[in-house]
Amino acid sequence: MQAPDFSLSGKTALITGSTQGLGFEIARAYAASGACVIINGRSQDRVMQAVRRIEEEGGRAEPLVHDVGNLAEQERIFGQLCSRAGAPDILVNNVGIRLRKSLADSTLQEMQDLIHVDLLAAMHLSRLAAQRMARQGLAGRIVTLTSIADRVARPGDAIYAVAKHGLAGLVKALAVEYGPRGITSNGIAPGTFATESNVQLAGDPVQGPRVLGRNPLERWAQPHEITGAAVFLASPAASYVNGHILVVDGGFSIAF
Ligand SMILES: NC(=O)c1ccc[n+]([C@@H]2O[C@H](COP(=O)([O-])OP(=O)(O)OC[C@H]3O[C@@H](n4cnc5c(N)ncnc54)[C@H](OP(=O)(O)O)[C@@H]3O)[C@@H](O)[C@H]2O)c1
Repeated sequence: MQAPDFSLSGKTALITGSTQGLGFEIARAYAASGACVIINGRSQDRVMQAVRRIEEEGGRAEPLVHDVGNLAEQERIFGQLCSRAGAPDILVNNVGIRLRKSLADSTLQEMQDLIHVDLLAAMHLSRLAAQRMARQGLAGRIVTLTSIADRVARPGDAIYAVAKHGLAGLVKALAVEYGPRGITSNGIAPGTFATESNVQLAGDPVQGPRVLGRNPLERWAQPHEITGAAVFLASPAASYVNGHILVVDGGFSIAF
């Protein structure tokens, strides 16, 4: 009996939005597992800083400075990336922006902007990546960061939940469309992680304690606690896992 294979050796992984937070932690873990990681963000400085940090840790990393919301440029930029660094075996759809507003308070423009970046950009990039993986006969892996808001909703956080419910649909749509080509699609639904983007929520005198009080583990997750799920879903060990969304929330969403 051989131990399950969690190695990403020889693989190339594109992680969108990987200059900080969960995306950066996933990139670090993939690099430590043997993959060459493509670091993405909108700022050249921040992308290069993340690339250097991974290289300092002994990993291999390539930069991709690109706003994923720029759909008009996405196909050209993805094509250039494939020529330069090879087609990614693994795509992690990680970019997710937030709008902490109720439906009533959100403007049409705000709704469009969030759906555009969080949902449409991931759909467009996933299609490009899956087509390329299929053409090249890669055992491709697509991992999409949803949220526990892909199944529940919180007052004052309406459009984000709509986008994340949509991403849960994307996980499944990709799984059935590209499964026959040997490409799997899965999701990760994080709960409350102590990343830069949650500083405000954690410090809120009402929401902060409310979040902690509902969590059976009674604490926020540290960003690196996302990496076990992310490496598993991208690895040979998950070869028969397809269309699944792995919840990493300390039990938050099953408690009431
Ligand atoms: N943190 C949590 O507790 C939590 C909980 C549930 C779900 N999630 C989901 O997990 C994912 C990561 O969350 P996070 O908290 O780690 O995010 P974050 O700290 O806000 O980081 C977002 C990353 O995305 C990049 N980015 C933002 N917009 C971009 C764009 N248009 N094009 C390219 N890159 C872009 C940012 O880089 P630049 O600013 O350098 O461009 C940054 O690297 C999101 O999908 C989020 O919804 C997080």
